[in-house]
Amino acid sequence: MQTQEKFRKKKIVIFASGNGSNAENIITYFQQKNTAEVIAVFSNNRRAKVLERAHRLGVKALHFDREAIYQSNEVLRLLKDMNPNLIVLAGFLWIFPTNILKQFPNKVINIHPALLPKYGGKGMYGMHVHKAIHEKKEVETGISIHYVNEHYDEGKMIFQATTAIKPEDSVQDIAEKIHELEQEHFPKVIENLLFPLPNE
Ligand code: GAR
Repeated sequence: MQTQEKFRKKKIVIFASGNGSNAENIITYFQQKNTAEVIAVFSNNRRAKVLERAHRLGVKALHFDREAIYQSNEVLRLLKDMNPNLIVLAGFLWIFPTNILKQFPNKVINIHPALLPKYGGKGMYGMHVHKAIHEKKEVETGISIHYVNEHYDEGKMIFQATTAIKPEDSVQDIAEKIHELEQEHFPKVIENLLFPLPNE
């Protein structure tokens, strides 16, 4: 029994609203390992590219609406059945409901494309963040991976990585630098959370 438990793959569920480059990267990273797997991708946007990506990669792709996540508990019920070890918000733009957070304490994480607490909060997502950073002529930016609580971008920090911004960098250049950091670090941070080293 113990042996079976030890070798059972850990389960990851992803929530995403749009493109899904992070979701795809996480899915393929763990498809190359036999330690964990993404078992489902949930999106609030029926036409989100992330659902196509999940489907193409053989991962269950589910769409839900406001009623299902905020009122009827349908999303909560599905999650309870799936019983994931980690819920990953990868470009998910709705506030994550308290009832799900309560059910999965310390098991919901988010990635944000800036060095929180700067450039966080409602309305600060995707290109809006990069534009604001460009306008302020910041000399560095980065990514933040943190636990989720009931406020946008405020839970306990898990990991940050920074990148320099040159004066001539455009908003698009900043976006690309962030994309590279996310691709490099996000799956590894997830792996470290699922399989902490003995002294962590
Ligand atoms: C990512 O850059 C992520 O950090 C950001 O949305 C992008 C999603 O890209 N998240 C936020 O802004 C959350 N406030 P993707 O759909 O290609 O993974």
